[in-house]
This record gives sequence, C-alpha cells and structure tokens, in this order.
Amino acid sequence: MKVLLTGGAGYIGSHTAVELMTSGYDVVIADNLSNSCKEAISRIEELGGNKVSFYDIDVCCKMEMEKLFSEQDIGACIHFAGLKSVPESTSMPLSYYRNNLDATLTLLETMQEFGVKKLVFSSSATVYGVPKSVPVNEDADTWCTNPYGWTKYMSEQIMRDAAKADESLSIILLRYFNPIGAHESGRIGEDPQGKPNNLMPYISQVAVGRRDKLYVYGDDYATPDGTGVRDYIHVVDLAKGHIAALEYAEKNPGCIAVNLGTGLGYSVLDIVKTFERANDIRVPYEIAPRRPGDVDTLYSDPSRAEKLLGWKAEKNLEDMCRDTWNWQKHNPKGYRE
Ligand code: NAD
Ligand code: UD1
Repeated sequence: MKVLLTGGAGYIGSHTAVELMTSGYDVVIADNLSNSCKEAISRIEELGGNKVSFYDIDVCCKMEMEKLFSEQDIGACIHFAGLKSVPESTSMPLSYYRNNLDATLTLLETMQEFGVKKLVFSSSATVYGVPKSVPVNEDADTWCTNPYGWTKYMSEQIMRDAAKADESLSIILLRYFNPIGAHESGRIGEDPQGKPNNLMPYISQVAVGRRDKLYVYGDDYATPDGTGVRDYIHVVDLAKGHIAALEYAEKNPGCIAVNLGTGLGYSVLDIVKTFERANDIRVPYEIAPRRPGDVDTLYSDPSRAEKLLGWKAEKNLEDMCRDTWNWQKHNPKGYRE
C-alpha cells in the first residue's frame, strides 16, 4: 500500500518513513521543508532501501495536494505536517492556527475528494494540559495552555466530526508523549533550527560543545528530585506505533485517541545522569527558574495502545540516550554539514 506522509521529512516522519519502507509499504512524502531539509529524504531512501516519491509542497495548497493525489494511488495518510514550537506559537499564534488547521482541513478535503479513508494524526500529550492525576489515559479531560496545543485540540475535534459524518472513515489520533532518540544507524535524527526548546536536543548540543551548559528549569517541583518528570519515548518505538495504528485503521472505522508513551516517568536529572553514563560524557548543568507553563509530572497510561493496537514501547532510557548521542556526534551540525 502507498502511504502519504505529510511532514515526512521531519524528525518523527523520517523515522516512520524508514519503518514503513522496511515493512513493505511504499512511501510518498509531502513536505515544504519549512523545518527540515532535502538531505533527510536521501537518508530515508538509504535506510529504507527504496525510492520515496517526494513532493516539495505546502500541504495547505489544495491544488498541489490534488495534483499529488491524482498522480499517486494513496491508500492511507499519516499527518505529521505542522509547526510545533510552544514558545513560538505564543508569539505567532495566527501563523500556527493558519498553518496547522489549514493543513488538517486541506488534507481531509483532498482525502474526501479522492475517497481515501484511513488517517493517522500526530496529536500530542499537550492536549491534557495540566492533568488532574497521572498516569493519564485517553478519557482524561483535555484543555490547552498555548496556541500550539489548541491547534492539536482543534484538529482532533475536526477529525472526530469528519468521522461522525462519514462512517467509513478510520482516524487514529496518536497522542505522543516526549519523543527522543534517533535511528540506531545515526543517519537520521532530530535537527532543531536555532536554540532547542526541548530537553534532549539541548543536552546533546551541550555534549557536542555547541552550548556551554544545560539550564534545568526548576528544582522545586513536587517530584522525587524536584525536577520535572516526563514520559520519554524512543522515536523508533513511536514510528512503529504508526504502523500498528495503520493496521488497526484498516479494520476499524471511527475515530479514536491513543496515547503513545512508555508509562514511565523520568526527571530532568535522571535524563542528564543516564545520558552521561550511557555515553561516558559530561553534561554540565545549572539550576534555573521554572519555565512558565511547565507541569510537575506527566506520564501516560499506554494500555489502550497495547490492547487495541498490539503495540508497546520496547526501548529503554539508555537506548534513547545512546542513540541520540550517536546521531549528534556523527552529525554535530545536523543535516547541514
Ligand atoms: P518536525 O518539525 O521535525 O516535522 C514536521 C514537518 O512538517 C517538517 O518537516 C516541516 O517542514 C513540515 N511542515 C510544516 N508545515 C507544513 C506545511 N504546511 N506543508 C508541508 N510541510 C509542512 O516535527 P516532528 O517532531 O517530526 O513532529 C511531527 C508532528 O508531531 C508535528 O505535527 C508535531 O506537532 C507532532 N508532535 C511532535 C512532538 C515532538 O516532541 N517532536 C510531540 C507531540 C506531537
Ligand atoms: C514540550 C511542550 C509540549 C510539546 C513537547 C514536544 C511546553 C510547555 N510543552 O513538552 O507541548 O508537545 O514539548 O514538542 O513547552 N527542560 C529543562 N531545560 C531545557 C529544556 C527542558 O530543564 O533546556 C525541562 C522542562 O522543564 C521539562 C522537561 O525538561 O520538565 C521536558 O521538557 P521538554 O523537552 O521541553 O518537553 P515538555 O515540556 O514535556
């Protein structure tokens, strides 16, 4: 089957493309390279052992999307395309709503026009806002604290409504927790532009000498060591979760949300220490004030993914730290060597 990956040149999309190709799927990628680069496509082909049909287009452009769908016999779509920085979304909310919602609507309309019925969507644990309790399952209340989060919340609602109106649609809303790590080859990985917002890319840039030290945002949270606790998941496990979701969508119409996480919570200092131990390298850090909008603890109840999709994360924190470093040390400046 031919699968369209919007945003497939990005961090999670590139890893999913490789897993799909090695599982026998044909991959078509639509990406405007606004947060990625063409080199990722060559590396996906190298690891996937096959050619990718690549369209350098904006998913918000209906004409370009119609052209793609008329040239390719798309059987299912995975919708990664979107802007993803929380702080940027608070300073440029209109760009985030325009891009992320327009991309969702344009994709759904084009799928409808061409009779494509299966869709997997990149949602986020951000839709849980400040959870009442952990682990958080899919029935927990949803509410957001920033425009990026609202674009996920609204896209989910649009998809639920679309599936209600067309009972032959199958849509899986994958709520990712904190994806980190890289393909074990070190050929593809996360390549943030400018200063990273997220913890793991910041740590690996400190380790490789691009930044002096890590700032740990707060050590007075109600957690065992005072630093924030999250559910980190290896990006290759996450990628495999998309294949499991596609297989589920084949047989089950409707729209359902599924957490992709490990169910384990690790603190910022757990990550720093594991990174140092796994890679035998020092990561200097300093305690800094809390970052606005952060919560103490957030980790998933991943049991629905296991029950419905037959999927479970397999890699541990050491694997995540080792593979992140393997990517970073071989690509100190990311894809732009
Ligand atoms: P990424 O930025 O690496 O990948 C997104 C890709 O989408 C990029 O290659 C970008 O060029 C492309 N893109 C953006 N807008 C586009 C448009 N209008 N048309 C065509 N291409 C467009 O991000 P990622 O980390 O791979 O995340 C993938 C998806 O998963 C995003 O929707 C993100 O919000 C979501 N998500 C990511 C995380 C995370 O921690 N990385 C967590 C939860 C959810
Ligand atoms: C953030 C976003 C979330 C998004 C996710 C993936 C916020 C409030 N949330 O999640 O919406 O889905 O990224 O893109 O931005 N930390 C440091 N120093 C750093 C960076 C982070 O101490 O330089 C700490 C944070 O305070 C937090 C933990 O590390 O406790 C993880 O942070 P991060 O990687 O940014 O992920 P989230 O905040 O969980």
